Amino acid sequence: MYRSHHIEKLMQTSSWIRKMFEEGIELKKQYGEENVFDFSLGNPITEPPQAFFDKLKEIADNPVPGTHRYMPNQGLYSTRSKVAAYYSKEFDMNINADDVIMTVGAAGAINVILKTFIDPANEIITFAPYFAEYKFYADNHQARLIVLGSDDEFNPDLERLRDMINPETAAIILNSPHNPTGKIYSEDFIKELVEVLEEGTARIGRPIYIITDEPYRKIVYDGYQNPVIFKHYKYTIFVTSHSKDLSLAGERIGYAIVHPNMPFKEKLMTSMAFSNRILGFVNAPAIMQLLVEDIVSESVNIEEYKEKRDLLYNGLLDAGFTAYKPQGAFYIFVKSPIKNEIKMIEHLKKYNILAVPGVGFGKRGYFRLSYAVKKDVVVKSLPLFKKAMEELHFIK
Ligand SMILES: Cc1ncc(COP(=O)(O)O)c(C=O)c1O
Repeated sequence: MYRSHHIEKLMQTSSWIRKMFEEGIELKKQYGEENVFDFSLGNPITEPPQAFFDKLKEIADNPVPGTHRYMPNQGLYSTRSKVAAYYSKEFDMNINADDVIMTVGAAGAINVILKTFIDPANEIITFAPYFAEYKFYADNHQARLIVLGSDDEFNPDLERLRDMINPETAAIILNSPHNPTGKIYSEDFIKELVEVLEEGTARIGRPIYIITDEPYRKIVYDGYQNPVIFKHYKYTIFVTSHSKDLSLAGERIGYAIVHPNMPFKEKLMTSMAFSNRILGFVNAPAIMQLLVEDIVSESVNIEEYKEKRDLLYNGLLDAGFTAYKPQGAFYIFVKSPIKNEIKMIEHLKKYNILAVPGVGFGKRGYFRLSYAVKKDVVVKSLPLFKKAMEELHFIK
């Protein structure tokens, strides 16, 4: 046996996103790269901003002894200070370097947090549709991911949430701007959510944390802004990374910020630094931390994503599809014109279009398109979406 039964089981339920991505590679071999419309993966194709390359060169040209050694597990103080200064402005509150921990991407941050908070059998609640990896992150720490469904606007029923809270409830993972819908939760929604969590916290006698997962925070359109959850709830841990906003997904740099008024925050941070170490991350990569010092406030060109959002969204409506208009991130969640979206995905594949079924995000009847692709891919795919819609009767 070359793997555990547990990993075997997890891999069987593993990501549709990867599955479609791999099918895309096969299709590209068969039909040529330019004839395949691969909307499966949220892998940014824009290059990082020039400031990234300038700083990288500066670090290489001016070596400072000791830069590449082990460091405190929480990360470089100089980097954490810059991150704290940026978010003090962004959140309009006083955040200190000691509230920040540098991590191996947002994924690393979420795992560090869960490792620190979770006892076996604890429950973590998230709202469908959701980023499929959460299920595996929960499993890493023997927790149960409980998924609460949502309405047509992707708002969960907060009265049901109230009923779901029990002594095992440890945290809510919230993601906004949202993968897979591009939704931004409203300030009013956050206030109602906090009211439910405060009541739940009082009832079960221990805090229910919000882990707010915001790697798309800077990718917003039409003047929308992601709410600042720190303003509403002190048991919040903010998570982000530069995978998406600086197109640095392969470099694995992110961070978590603990609310400045979180009770026991010093002890909590010491424990998170320990978790970073024993999970095997030890610390976030040193060069990337130095880079963050200069580019924490930068982003890729959001207008490019907006242009593709508009093209794809309008094109889909024109073809007869119904979709949620994304307010941020770079995904569109489209209602499948037939009930079984897996059949719809198979149908789209006949036109060399690759999409991810809603089942992969815990929401049947939809499919996700990632427009982190070249504009040309969007433009050339639109007549094919139209054709696929006209030829729905071919679906058996
Ligand atoms: C909602 C969400 N959270 C977390 C991540 C992981 O990001 P990172 O590359 O920073 O680990 C992703 C990546 O796609 C994501 O979509």
